Amino acid sequence: MNKIDKTARGMRRVILVLMLLAPQLVLAADNRQMVVLPTEMQEGILENMRDHLATLLEILKHLSNEDYVKAADTAESRIGLSSPASHSANYMVSLTPKEMHAIGTRMHTAASRFARKTRAGDLDQAHAALGVVTAACVSCHYKYRIR
Ligand code: HEC
Repeated sequence: MNKIDKTARGMRRVILVLMLLAPQLVLAADNRQMVVLPTEMQEGILENMRDHLATLLEILKHLSNEDYVKAADTAESRIGLSSPASHSANYMVSLTPKEMHAIGTRMHTAASRFARKTRAGDLDQAHAALGVVTAACVSCHYKYRIR
């Protein structure tokens, strides 16, 4: 095989590997929008976030124990519209992109709907609402960062 053929074969291999890797490269790229916030607010948000994650775990635990009142109370008091996290989000309206705030509102509203449907014993609708809550976590995390 002459040198040019070898080079062409090498190039084809490189291109093949790049094609195989392309989807992963796209996923790994950080395209999140940076939202600059005062330090105190940043810390408050992260603290809320850690609580949101712990809350999801608690909700799932209560659901698997069929303890629906506790599942509803946990969701409403810590992520729902009446939670401190929902009220603090109102202070941030002017500092955060409109869409980011809208995703947050969708999450709080869905958590309250989950609580209502769980209390009413409508578990299909409750699970659907919990799906909307977790989808809101995912879509905000894909779009925004604050540090
Ligand atoms: C409206 C936007 C938004 C929603 C909704 C949202 N988050 Fe976050 N979350 C963020 C941002 C922004 C960060 C910080 C990302 C960064 O800059 O590192 C974050 C960070 C976190 C962290 C890391 C905290 C730390 O101390 O490092 C956890 C855990 C988390 N979120 C959990 C959740 C869970 C669980 C939900 C859903 C129940 C949720 N978040 C919903 C915006 C959101």
